Amino acid sequence: MKKITLILVAAVALASCESRQKAIAGTPTTGKLNTRQMAAAKSLYENSCGKCHVLHAPSEYTAEKWKSIIDWMAPRAKLDEQQKQQVFQYVSAHASDAPAG
Ligand code: HEC
Repeated sequence: MKKITLILVAAVALASCESRQKAIAGTPTTGKLNTRQMAAAKSLYENSCGKCHVLHAPSEYTAEKWKSIIDWMAPRAKLDEQQKQQVFQYVSAHASDAPAG
């Protein structure tokens, strides 16, 4: 439920920014990033988050755990708010379903 709300909020935000490009942006049917956006988010993650330590696999943590990790690590990786969201979208799309620990 939470996830769906988040996705809806993101979709509305996107739609309002890109209303003039509606035809291009389309609506991702899965509610996730489209393939191109996902590829960009993946490389952002790989380039920003593997500098100081090995890159953690998205499946190592749940989406919820990732949220606090990204809040924690984004300043270290010098991500702006949008990049932070992008990285979070990427890892949460591949996150573990099981509660951590
Ligand atoms: C400037 C260096 C640096 C960058 C850049 C960085 N990290 Fe880290 N990260 C650390 C350090 C240091 C630790 C070990 C924990 C600590 O001592 O604060 C850590 C720990 C972690 C952990 C393990 C947390 C745990 O609970 O054990 C994860 C997952 C992680 N980082 C993810 C990320 C992600 C995602 C990014 C990109 C947004 C990122 N890191 C960017 C320095 C960095």
